[in-house]
Parts: sequence; C-alpha cells; structure tokens
Amino acid sequence: IRHLLSAADLDAATATLVLDTAHEMALLADREVKKLPTLRGRTVVNLFYEDSTRTRISFEAAAKRLSADVINFSAKGSSVSKGESLKDTALTLQAMGADGVVVRHPASGAPHRLAHWVDGSVLNAGDGTHEHPTQALLDAYTMRSRLGRLEGLNVAIVGDVLHSRVARSNVLLLHTLGAKVTLVAPPTLLPVGVEAWPARTSYQLDSVLPDSDVVMMLRVQRERMDEAYFPSAREYSRRYGLDTARMRRLPEHAIVMHPGPMNRGMEITPEVADSVRSTIVEQVANGVSVRMAVLYLLLGGKV
Ligand code: CP
Repeated sequence: IRHLLSAADLDAATATLVLDTAHEMALLADREVKKLPTLRGRTVVNLFYEDSTRTRISFEAAAKRLSADVINFSAKGSSVSKGESLKDTALTLQAMGADGVVVRHPASGAPHRLAHWVDGSVLNAGDGTHEHPTQALLDAYTMRSRLGRLEGLNVAIVGDVLHSRVARSNVLLLHTLGAKVTLVAPPTLLPVGVEAWPARTSYQLDSVLPDSDVVMMLRVQRERMDEAYFPSAREYSRRYGLDTARMRRLPEHAIVMHPGPMNRGMEITPEVADSVRSTIVEQVANGVSVRMAVLYLLLGGKV
C-alpha cells in the first residue's frame, strides 16, 4: 500500500507485518541502537492543522530515528491564516520534495483528499471524528505485547464513541486481527449507524467489565460537542467513569488503556490512570516504534 488513510487499508497480514516490524524497532532501541540510516535522504512533513502532543512528537521522533529529514508544519502561524487552502499548502510541500506527509486535520476525509494531490505517501494522523489508524496500530501492539495475542481478546471501548476517531480505527483493526470489541456508551454518545460496525454495543459498563481483557477509556471530547449537550462530569463519571471500585470488577490479567489526552476525574480517576494495570505511558512509548515501522514500510526504506 502507498498511503495509510484508514485502519481498513490493512488486511491481517499487513497489520501483523507492521506490528512485527515495530517489535524489531523496539528491540533495536532496547539494544541502544538509537538511529538507523534507513530513510537517509528522504523528507517527512508533519502537517498539523489540529493540536497534538503524542502523535506529532512521536512521528517526528520516529522519522528522525530512521534518519529522515523532518519538516514540521503547524497551521498556526502559517499562511493558512491568510486563507491558503489545504491543496495549495500540499502543493507547496510537494514542491519542497516531501516523500511522506503526516497529516492531522479537523475535517474528516482531509487525508484522502491530500492523497490525490501529492506524489508521496500520506499518513493519516487523525482526521476529524473519522480515523486515527496509527493510534489503533499502537494500541494493538500494546495489547499484543501485554497479553501475548489479539485473536479472541475481549476489548471494551468506553465513552464518547460518537466523536472518537480512535474508536472507529480500533474497531476496524481489532476486528481484522480477530479480537471482539464491545462499545460501551450512553445512547447519546454512540454514532448513527453503529449497528453496522463490527462490534457489539452496551449501555452498561459494570456488566461488560468482568469479561473484558482490555478496557479502553475514551476522552469526552467537549470541544466537539454543542454546549447544551455537555454531560455533567459527576453523572458521567458515576455511570461511565473507571474508578478503583470498577477496576476491581476486571479479571486479574486485564489492562486499562487510554489514547490520551485524559480528562482525569471524568472518564478515568487518577488512581486508575496511574495504576499498574494502566498501559497509558507504555502506549506512548510504543507509538514511536509503530510509527517507525509504518514510515519504514511505506517509504520503502532498506536496512
Ligand atoms: N492520542 C493522540 O492522538 O494524542 P494527541 O492528540 O496528543 O496526538
């Protein structure tokens, strides 16, 4: 494949290849091999129209560890404020010789459009409420490294599914890799058409927890909600928040995930986020290895 726009672009063999390659990258880092010459002479552009901490930094770290030249473009402070379009920005970057364009954009579908305008590979780093495929890959990597497999795992994805690109990409990838997903949310935070997703749905977190190998908490995305529909933090956390008492309902081996950034005290308590079951910091570290693997495989580097 040339681009990574959706988790649906990955069949089981390709997704497994990415996870295995990420594992090799992690092993090299463990052996203090901090930099590989693989993408020397290639240019990766990070094109961010929406804020990011983890994704932007880890794509930058991943490209630099593969010896690529990295150009960081943030819409803030650029000619976007003068009305320059995504297409003209993309063509400008193309003229500078971008081999790979990592794009985050508030509009769902923006990376797909970009892929028509540039010659290099386009990597979706999160588009609106649509998809975030590298997040799903790093989540799958984390589950596999903690629990030893993905096939047959019961994964509960909990909270604001309606606005979550992480949820959609995870459902698609986990289904491809043989895990069983249950989406747990209040009816108002499930998208229209969710019945067609390859996942079960439930409104009852407490009844789903005892059978879950993984519980992935989602951020309540207040910035994408109409103010009139803000859930009260108290009511939301009472019904859908993960606290210590709820965490005890999980099987002993189960792990707690969150893509970040977190609303501590709303969807997850600080005690749970910082507990031994939490993989939140590990997910960030794994993100670098996974993004190295994706850049390596898409930009055709040679070891
Ligand atoms: N998980 C995630 O996408 O985090 P950022 O918004 O900080 O990149």
